[in-house]
Amino acid sequence: MILNFDQVTHHYPGDEAPIELPSFALSSGDRVLVMGPSGSGKSTLLNLVTGAQPLQSGSIELLDYHYATLSARQLDRLRADHIGIIFQSLNLVPYLNGFDNALLGLQFSKRRSARSPSQTQEVLQISHGLGLSEALLNKPANQLSVGQQQRIAVIRALLGRPELIVADEPTSALDERSTNQFMTELMESFDPSEQAVLMVSHNPLLIPYFDRVLELPG
Ligand SMILES: Nc1ncnc2c1ncn2[C@@H]1O[C@H](COP(=O)(O)OP(=O)(O)OP(=O)(O)O)[C@@H](O)[C@H]1O
Ligand SMILES: [Mg+2]
Repeated sequence: MILNFDQVTHHYPGDEAPIELPSFALSSGDRVLVMGPSGSGKSTLLNLVTGAQPLQSGSIELLDYHYATLSARQLDRLRADHIGIIFQSLNLVPYLNGFDNALLGLQFSKRRSARSPSQTQEVLQISHGLGLSEALLNKPANQLSVGQQQRIAVIRALLGRPELIVADEPTSALDERSTNQFMTELMESFDPSEQAVLMVSHNPLLIPYFDRVLELPG
């Protein structure tokens, strides 16, 4: 078991009612797409999984760690060690080149660094799978196209093989062709023997790349 998300509700201050989120579990190899109308709580669900939103009610368990029992620091460590995150805004440092942006994924985690002893080699290997040339890796992020930046963000998330890959609308800036290319490459780079993918999108084009769709009611 990688993730168990059970009976979680989340109440933002000022909102009338809490958001009730569906229960689900992820094992190695699982690829789950979270869909649902705008405002249904998709990003909230991901933010709870990454620990960016504190757990108020219900239970979240990642690899035997129960979120309710962890301090904020322990949760930060758990995230750095075991979750690869692809943000919608990509969060690349504009003046750093692709290589250095990718390596930021290891910066906060001794565990993931140790699992990636030849970091340059691993960056090259994943970028090769993603169809990104070494020349592009040497360009500053602000001189790359959005699709190229997206691939750097994927390399950063995959380095050190975290057990859970999460992504919030990673293809929202891509056209149909680039979306399909991106998804094919992501799924080829992911290791089903020890990793699971949890992605949020409202784009039905992505459905065929997943085993299951988790639909949030509006
Ligand atoms: N940081 C926040 N503070 C207060 N309320 C929030 C916060 N983030 C989300 N909400 C509220 O929680 C509800 C769910 O928002 P969320 O961002 O999870 O939806 P979503 O499904 O990701 O929507 P979208 O498809 O538009 O990205 C909305 O009513 C939103 O206003
Ligand atoms: Mg959202």
